[in-house]
Amino acid sequence: MRRKLVAGNWKMHGSLATNAELLAGVKAGVAGLAAEVAVCVPYPYLAQAQQVLAGSPVAWGAQNVSEHAQGAYTGEVSAGMLKDFGCRYVIVGHSERRTYYGETDAIVAAKFEAAQKAGLIPILCVGETLEERERNVTAEVVTRQMQAILERCGVAALAEAVVAYEPVWAIGTGRTATPEQAQEVHAQIRALVAAADAGIASNLRILYGGSMKPANAKELMAQPDIDGGLIGGASLIAADFVAICAAA
Ligand code: PGA
Repeated sequence: MRRKLVAGNWKMHGSLATNAELLAGVKAGVAGLAAEVAVCVPYPYLAQAQQVLAGSPVAWGAQNVSEHAQGAYTGEVSAGMLKDFGCRYVIVGHSERRTYYGETDAIVAAKFEAAQKAGLIPILCVGETLEERERNVTAEVVTRQMQAILERCGVAALAEAVVAYEPVWAIGTGRTATPEQAQEVHAQIRALVAAADAGIASNLRILYGGSMKPANAKELMAQPDIDGGLIGGASLIAADFVAICAAA
């Protein structure tokens, strides 16, 4: 049985003052829920997340990581540094990183590897653009993104990782994939992993991300291959995020 995971992706939002309220609301609201809960916060707020959430069931993490362990990489943050602040998770390959910061499949695979080397659990994002969906190449795109990880890290690496299917056209648009559309791709991802290792595939948590809200969370997460959510906008409102965690 795969335990559901609901992870918040705050993106570049928040302040010390607003985070204090949000973190306290999440911590209080999700106490006793069955699902695992995590929040991925901007780097400067990792210490704050650690301070508020330490000892609670809510895990925390970051939204990006350097592919390098250390060195002359001005402005970068290593996986070891994230570990220092008690992170459990780190998002790698979010479509905003791929699109705005030129992260290729190869860079994403290197970041995935660097995260695991430091003992972090990568949340690997994959997903097609609207143009790719309309060209009917969703399966090819997601396969290529997954294959980059399998080739560099091997299937065993997926035993200590989470995958998030995030159709780019559904992110922050209010346009959610239907449960059937999402389930279809989740099943393809699981089948792709199963072709290499059936046991790892059946334990792999595959989250859905893209305009998941309290109103659609239950139906999405009821699909057999949807094991939780990666939540952007709704993770910034404690009541909404808690409602999604409860739906899981
Ligand atoms: P959204 O973002 O929930 O605001 O669509 C999801 C994400 O980008 O992880």
